[in-house]
Amino acid sequence: MDDYHGRKIIIPSSPSFSKPNFHLFLFIFFLISSIKTTSVSGFNLTVTPFSQAYSTLFSDFNIDPSPYDDSVRLLLNHHSGSGIISYDYYRYAFFSANIKLPSGNTAGVVVAFYASNVDTFEKNHDELDIEFLGNIRGKPWRFQTNVYGNGSTKRGREERYRLWFDPSKEFHRYSILWTPIKVIFYVDEVPIREVIRNDEMGGDFPAKPMAMYATIWDASTWATSGGKYKVDYRHEPFAAEFKDFVTDGCAVDPIQEPSATNCSETALKIAVADYFTVRPRQRKAMRWFREKYMYYSHCYDTWRYKVPLPECVIVPSEQVLFKETGRLRHAMRIKFGGSQRKQRRSRGGVRKSGGGSAVVRLRSGNEEVAAV
Ligand SMILES: *[C@@H]1O[C@H](CO)[C@@H](O)[C@H](O)[C@H]1NC(C)=O
Ligand SMILES: *[C@@H]1O[C@H](CO)[C@@H](O)[C@H](O)[C@H]1NC(C)=O
Repeated sequence: MDDYHGRKIIIPSSPSFSKPNFHLFLFIFFLISSIKTTSVSGFNLTVTPFSQAYSTLFSDFNIDPSPYDDSVRLLLNHHSGSGIISYDYYRYAFFSANIKLPSGNTAGVVVAFYASNVDTFEKNHDELDIEFLGNIRGKPWRFQTNVYGNGSTKRGREERYRLWFDPSKEFHRYSILWTPIKVIFYVDEVPIREVIRNDEMGGDFPAKPMAMYATIWDASTWATSGGKYKVDYRHEPFAAEFKDFVTDGCAVDPIQEPSATNCSETALKIAVADYFTVRPRQRKAMRWFREKYMYYSHCYDTWRYKVPLPECVIVPSEQVLFKETGRLRHAMRIKFGGSQRKQRRSRGGVRKSGGGSAVVRLRSGNEEVAAV
């Protein structure tokens, strides 16, 4: 997959590099990088100014919008975290933002970007999560995705991953596509997880109108090594930056059933958008990502689910990588975009015993829900 994401462009520094050649090189370099940009920036998206799409969810004093209305910094300090919520509720949408995470020691810090209706349907809410779980200094950020429908909080559908880049160094686009037939989570234009709706899922597939949320908060009790490492406020404030918000969706009344809004136009817009269809090249990227960067999946956790949940697609080449705890058999090698960092063994997330899955199991019950 190095053709896809490898940024192994070597700029020669040799003094014997002659001038005409150097210009030719520059030309080719820019040609290549422009091709890369077109393919990497991928989706053709229309962004919404921050103030038109989002408002305060909590702790206004820790929300720092840019004067240009294109971005916002969400801060966590010893007083509080902070959060924003979209003005509208949507029934089916593509939610997306460019996000840059806090750097340094972020143990216990959670940054979440998620669709939910927990404020409207307390007992039977729906939710689609991307949650970044901080880490101790020097260890990469990890993140998880989850799917809940109609209050299915007893059936967590976690998957956990690392990234192929350092998400605190630059902005990357994170997106959730939610349609009546499938959910896709994206990092940049790589579909990292696809959930195809299946009749047996019943109400577990999110179907009621949801708003979009972005938050940063103190999850010292569980986020890093099961709560072993807490937020270290000597490093405050922790700032997560969000920009270029995209909400392609049908805004509806969250309560009224059936909705009085005619969503056929937005449904069509989503159905023809490039993020709707996973092309063969993206399918390949998805396989690459999941085999290389996923380190937990509920679908392979037979301790937790004797029979995998109905939407699980058991991929043999993935399955062999996982133990019956749903965790990796072998510690994974972490490599950020082929850059300055050396490869190194990761230890944090992967436990030798089955202890890790117990943590996930516990979390899937109450804390996860309490958390979000
Ligand atoms: C969702 O939950 C409510 C309340 O628990 C229940 O009445 C309803 O039938 C459920 N809907 C689906 C589609 O499962
Ligand atoms: C919704 O709008 C489309 C055109 O945008 C129209 O063809 C369709 O009949 C409408 N559906 C309803 C139920 O009003």
